Amino acid sequence: MKQLLFVISMLVVTFASAQTTKTKMTNAPMVLTTFDTIKLLAPDTLGGKPLMQAILHRKSDRQFDTRNLSLKHLSEILWVANGINRTNGKRTVPSAMGLYPLQTYAVLANGIYFYNPKKHQLEPVVKGDYRSLAGKQTFVDTAPLNLLFIAKARNANDNFQMAMMDSGFCGQNVYLYCASEGLKCVVRAGAKEVELLKAMNLGENYKFILAQTVGY
Ligand SMILES: Cc1cc2nc3c(=O)[nH]c(=O)nc-3n(C[C@H](O)[C@H](O)[C@H](O)COP(=O)(O)O)c2cc1C
Repeated sequence: MKQLLFVISMLVVTFASAQTTKTKMTNAPMVLTTFDTIKLLAPDTLGGKPLMQAILHRKSDRQFDTRNLSLKHLSEILWVANGINRTNGKRTVPSAMGLYPLQTYAVLANGIYFYNPKKHQLEPVVKGDYRSLAGKQTFVDTAPLNLLFIAKARNANDNFQMAMMDSGFCGQNVYLYCASEGLKCVVRAGAKEVELLKAMNLGENYKFILAQTVGY
């Protein structure tokens, strides 16, 4: 009997320690040594605070630590911002007429990445620290993540009105996620638009719509 109790207690300790290690690992700041595709983690859809708590704490912040986000946080931010949440390919955010004109980019310290919602991964666009082009406020230069919501024109007369409206939903999802996870963020209408699109090699049919700085 004593032996059985010992085995059970060892199993409990091992399980608890594995869970702690897992938590520590998933919340550890990312170390980006290469500029490659970043395979994002599946979102923890059972995690987070109750919605009403997240709404209660939603706010804009303008002071950020330089510490990198964890892969878990980065993954879930991209998913809430513009990820796919149904088997029919539709997203975590609504889109006028289901057109999804917005593309989401992540400006990290080592480069700019394109978010591919189908593969739930970040794909390298341009290597280098381009954070200062992602905004006009100083915190943008050192924050670990600046999201960019960029629209591709649907036709020659596209005034990007639908894309602008869509971007509000992306921003609000990220705001609520941040409030739930104890992260800081702020949406920003300002960026060094012309230089930014040039650096990203995006042609005239693309328009910067909204940015969002995220960090600790
Ligand atoms: C479309 C839009 C654009 C914004 N642009 C900026 C910006 O460029 N820089 C900034 O610091 N805050 C920006 N904000 C954040 C607002 O200043 C902020 O939401 C407002 O002061 C209310 O504060 P709160 O978000 O903490 O409730 C923007 C908000 C919205 C909705």
